[in-house]
Amino acid sequence: MTTTNKFLKSVRTHQESKKTEKFKGTLGDYLKLLEANPDIAVLAHKRLHRQILSHGLRTLDESDTRCNKLFNGEPVKVYNYFDGQFFGMERPLEKVMRFLHSAAMKGEESRQVLLLLGPVGAGKSALVEHIKSALEACEPIYVIEGCPIREEPLHLVPRTLRDEFTEMFGIKIEGDLCPVCRHRLINEHDGDYTKFPISQESFSVRGRKGVGVVPPMDPNTQDTSLLIGSEDISKLDLYPEDDPRALSLNGAFNVGNRGIVEFVEVFKNEIEFLHTMITATQEKNVPSPGKQAMIYFDGVILAHCNEAEWNKFKAEHTNEAILDRIVRVNVPYSLEYEQEVKIYKKLIGRSDYDCHIAPHTLEVAAMFAVLSRLKPSNKVDPVTKMKIYNGQEIVEKGLVKKVDIKDLREEVEDEGMTGISTRFIMKAIDASLADSTKNMITPISIRDALIKQVKEQIVSPEDRKFYLQFLQKSLHEEYLSLLEKEITKAFVTAYDEQAESLFDNYLDHAEAYVNNTKVKDRVTNEDMEPDEKFLQSIEEQIGIKGSAKNNFRADISSYMFAKLRRNETIDWRSYGPLREAIENKLVSSVRDISRIVTKSKSRDNKQKKKFNAMVQTLIGDYGYNEDSAEEVIKFASNNLWRDS
Ligand SMILES: Nc1ncnc2c1ncn2[C@@H]1O[C@H](COP(=O)(O)OP(=O)(O)OP(=O)(O)O)[C@@H](O)[C@H]1O
Ligand SMILES: [Mg+2]
Repeated sequence: MTTTNKFLKSVRTHQESKKTEKFKGTLGDYLKLLEANPDIAVLAHKRLHRQILSHGLRTLDESDTRCNKLFNGEPVKVYNYFDGQFFGMERPLEKVMRFLHSAAMKGEESRQVLLLLGPVGAGKSALVEHIKSALEACEPIYVIEGCPIREEPLHLVPRTLRDEFTEMFGIKIEGDLCPVCRHRLINEHDGDYTKFPISQESFSVRGRKGVGVVPPMDPNTQDTSLLIGSEDISKLDLYPEDDPRALSLNGAFNVGNRGIVEFVEVFKNEIEFLHTMITATQEKNVPSPGKQAMIYFDGVILAHCNEAEWNKFKAEHTNEAILDRIVRVNVPYSLEYEQEVKIYKKLIGRSDYDCHIAPHTLEVAAMFAVLSRLKPSNKVDPVTKMKIYNGQEIVEKGLVKKVDIKDLREEVEDEGMTGISTRFIMKAIDASLADSTKNMITPISIRDALIKQVKEQIVSPEDRKFYLQFLQKSLHEEYLSLLEKEITKAFVTAYDEQAESLFDNYLDHAEAYVNNTKVKDRVTNEDMEPDEKFLQSIEEQIGIKGSAKNNFRADISSYMFAKLRRNETIDWRSYGPLREAIENKLVSSVRDISRIVTKSKSRDNKQKKKFNAMVQTLIGDYGYNEDSAEEVIKFASNNLWRDS
């Protein structure tokens, strides 16, 4: 089959699937449906909440390491609908969903605006888009046929019958007919509401069906018709004055009825313009253009803006009425660099880039972004804080550093609302790719691009100084240590086995030392004294000297013993400090050969072989290509293993 034919087949299948009969009927027919399934008449918040929830949710609890380390073990609800799209945003998403939940229960939230507040490029717009597209997946709703605001058919039920209706159906009817439908009811159907045709309609973002968007407006052209529609001048000749048929109900609140109204950069608008928001939320009514009655509105109002605008708006006490109707959810930047990396991957995946990205490239960029966003702590240095926020264990002087992430969080307020944006990093990725002659980006080239961009674009001298310090010093060192470990691993054949055997030996000897017993040689079965020199050669890797060794050995023995007693498996990675010591030991064991082999131009045959094997491991196992391997090795030999 040719590609065209294949595609045309898909087109037919698609058209067939669209053909499913849409409901057409009268109020009576609708009531029968409603009796079988009362859910078809839910209000907007509930529909949206339910739709997002229908994708499922799970709870990150104590069994999840990220939850334990990052959320203080407090369970976090994770909604599948946002999976793979939003990263490191669990808390804000949870708050958004909590808002929708309360609103769905018709709590006070159903009469409030949800405001997403966050710095540029934190994903506010993307989040609103994603929420809007949830609506498009909803079942079509039942509407009064031809109604410009696609209103709920139950509005046809007259006031006098509503109590009875509620008693029988268990459904409370909110809202009255819009002026257009009221006019049609009287003039086209002789007031017989049972004859009014009812049909179905789906949501469409691009079709402006159930989704209204209000962009920020220039104060001079601000016009409430954007919100509530207008009188159609061309029709004013056709109809008498005040005839609802002359109304063009195409404002955002009309279009977004039963769905969502989005206010983009909401506080860039004049306050007068926003008053409609108050009536829409509090009274669930919006004014009608011309002299008609108010029009019932049922919808979720989502707004977003940056902090600067918010602060300006908040400072005006005349804005209190609106402030009182806002539920604010902060959408900060990600402060976990591993989550940040996922954002870049998502954005790169969407572009046409087809280039090689060397290992650690995005990590380095993400670390920089996170460092720029953290507020200083009195307890730890910035890099350590960054690692703790990433859920990593920090080893210091042979101990796992006991810093509670909660304490760090409580030290500062509103973290993640400033710093480098995702867009800034994406631009640096673009630039570093554009400069590359080999169609690749490496940690080295991304760092250069970032330095250049900071110098060009960061205006505040203070920020610029900080950022450059990160890039040129702390991150530089961090990357070098990553790289050194990686090259070591590539040099050492069967790295894990060697590490494991160091680990086993260390445990045997340390345990014997602690218990004052002998070590049984694994080969000859002879008893021997614990090998003090060997033990120290490991311990010195993490700066354990003198009597500190006694505690260290005792700690490890009891830690491992406890683990074994609980039937947990142990390996060389089990205990952070020992892992680090073993890694360092291996690194130092190949430091000489690394230096000689990578630096010298005249390698002998044996060295050549070793070097080539190392390069092959970098390429085959670690994801480098020829060019990037060459670049990082060159970088390592210039910056590590200096001849001293
Ligand atoms: N935590 C995140 N998870 C996934 N993607 C993200 C995240 N933060 C930002 N992004 C992505 O970064 C890009 C920029 O985000 P977006 O335009 O939504 O930001 P914004 O908060 O609306 O910024 P602005 O205030 O400048 O309008 C989007 O493509 C978005 O998908
Ligand atoms: Mg935006």
